[in-house]
Amino acid sequence: MSGKTNWMIGLALLAALAGFLFGTGGSSDATAAAAQSSSRTHVGVASCGGTTCHGRQEADGEIVRQDEIMRWQEPSSATGAHSRAYSVLTQARSQHIARELGIGNPASAAMCLGCHADYVPATQRGPRFQLSDGVGCEACHGGAGGRSTGWLASHYAVGNSHSANVSRGLYPLDNPRARASRCLDCHFGGTGEGQFVNHRIMAAGHPRIVFELDLFSTLQQHHDEDADYARRKGRTNHVQLWAIGQATALDRSLTLFTNQRLGTEGIFPEFYFFDCHTCHRRIYDNPNARPTGVANPGRPIPNGFPSYQDENMIMLWAAARVIAPGLAERFDRDSRGFHAALAQGRSAGVEAAGRLRESARALANAFASASFSRQQSFAIIDAVSSGAIAPRYTDYEGSVQAVMATDTLLNALVSQGAVSEGSVGGIRSDINAAYAAVSEPNAYRPAEFRAALGRATSAIARLQ
Ligand code: HEC
Ligand code: HEC
Ligand code: HEC
Ligand code: HEC
Repeated sequence: MSGKTNWMIGLALLAALAGFLFGTGGSSDATAAAAQSSSRTHVGVASCGGTTCHGRQEADGEIVRQDEIMRWQEPSSATGAHSRAYSVLTQARSQHIARELGIGNPASAAMCLGCHADYVPATQRGPRFQLSDGVGCEACHGGAGGRSTGWLASHYAVGNSHSANVSRGLYPLDNPRARASRCLDCHFGGTGEGQFVNHRIMAAGHPRIVFELDLFSTLQQHHDEDADYARRKGRTNHVQLWAIGQATALDRSLTLFTNQRLGTEGIFPEFYFFDCHTCHRRIYDNPNARPTGVANPGRPIPNGFPSYQDENMIMLWAAARVIAPGLAERFDRDSRGFHAALAQGRSAGVEAAGRLRESARALANAFASASFSRQQSFAIIDAVSSGAIAPRYTDYEGSVQAVMATDTLLNALVSQGAVSEGSVGGIRSDINAAYAAVSEPNAYRPAEFRAALGRATSAIARLQ
């Protein structure tokens, strides 16, 4: 696990992005749309790339930029990561992972292609479709072809509407829950073929998977949120996107954990769902040893017991306390109850997971209709490092989420016009210091991390 990952570098660039206004997310039904788009023919990136379509060299399109392919391919940045997703399977690191797993060539193994390509069944691949395109346009936007009913021909027709495209299988990525769900299929895991990166794959050397919906959306963005976009789809509220991303991620984790096939491995629960560093610590058993674990008030589990991954639970609690105080107490009770139930047995754990998932869904519903005002954004940033929540940063993953949240929320305030870019300049160095405190997982120290995060959030609070 090397030091700085790509997203940490991308974050510095994000600071330069501003100008999006404030609004609310879309509202169409994610599940229905997913079902709609799942059986279409995927026509392949080549079919999207005409110079009159998305293959222009300059972003001079009348409605959309039309240089989307170039952005999707951008060689030196995260914007182009999806076009490289297949080719990484041909490189040395993947060969090494595949050898450890004994799966042969990773570039033809379902276990890898499920997330590193648009891995639809052969019957759904059109004549110009190629797996080697990696995560192509239709892996996110939905299959465009299929007899007379696809959205390919209609989506550029004059007078056509977004909802008409969606009814023909275009996936509604403008809807925060639908988008989160699609990204999480690969940026956490899903039930689709080859879409689960379990602990065996991690132990073979797969990089750890980090995700935050708002931040990662911006890092791969290939559209302009201009007036025309706003008229067609509404404006993005970045704080809302962050909050819904947290709720959907927890929902996904619990859904997969309660799935018998994915949630267990031999006599054990699947380790992927647990906080890596609650198992991967060094042992000091000499007479002067001090334990390396730090007590965590949010996890009522016995000493020596690994903890379920709770990064999204911590963030959600911070958001809930501000946006939906009436649900916050129930959510906190259910998350503690879930941790405790895991120490009792699988069936108690599965039952408690169901309750916690309902709480997370109730929060997602509340977030979908909330306005996330300037004042609430400041209050969430404050909550993330408040006395009630900071003691829960005892391990690496939750701490990474906290820094990403602070960074995302500050960027959202700038893009809302709630604070000026000029006034946040000095705070970037505090945020970078918080990133530095999580740049190397094995050098993570809870107390130092909390101090660094606290400096960043109190600097932000002074902008109010
Ligand atoms: C659940 C989806 C999923 C599965 C399954 C999966 N990967 Fe990945 N892989 C990812 C994601 C997401 C990333 C990017 C991680 C990040 O930066 O947050 C990634 C990153 C990588 C990287 C690092 C790429 C780079 O640019 O440095 C390699 C190598 C890799 N995967 C190989 C594999 C191999 C080999 C398999 C099959 C054994 C596999 N992956 C299975 C989702 C997956
Ligand atoms: C990783 C997922 C992903 C991939 C891959 C992807 N997109 Fe997108 N795309 C999005 C998201 C998210 C948005 C913003 C939400 C929206 O407007 O639907 C978007 C927006 C767009 C828009 C602007 C839509 C509008 O209404 O203004 C166009 C055009 C577009 N994408 C084309 C493409 C093309 C062409 C490709 C392939 C070269 C591609 N996308 C690949 C996720 C993706
Ligand atoms: C079909 C699987 C798949 C889907 C769906 C998907 N991704 Fe990815 N994404 C990947 C893989 C695999 C990588 C790693 C590629 C690499 O490193 O070469 C990646 C990389 C990225 C990166 C670069 C990360 C880094 O560390 O540089 C960003 C940002 C990203 N994805 C955002 C998104 C967003 C936002 C969505 C949803 C709109 C999404 N992705 C949907 C598979 C997917
Ligand atoms: C419940 C305990 C537990 C959790 C949680 C856990 N692991 Fe492991 N991990 C193990 C065990 C046991 C091994 C096997 C150690 C051995 O073979 O010596 C292992 C092995 C590994 C290895 C191979 C190390 C080596 O030297 O061979 C890696 C890498 C790894 N885990 C990464 C992770 C990551 C990343 C996470 C979080 C997503 C994680 N683990 C979560 C228990 C755990």
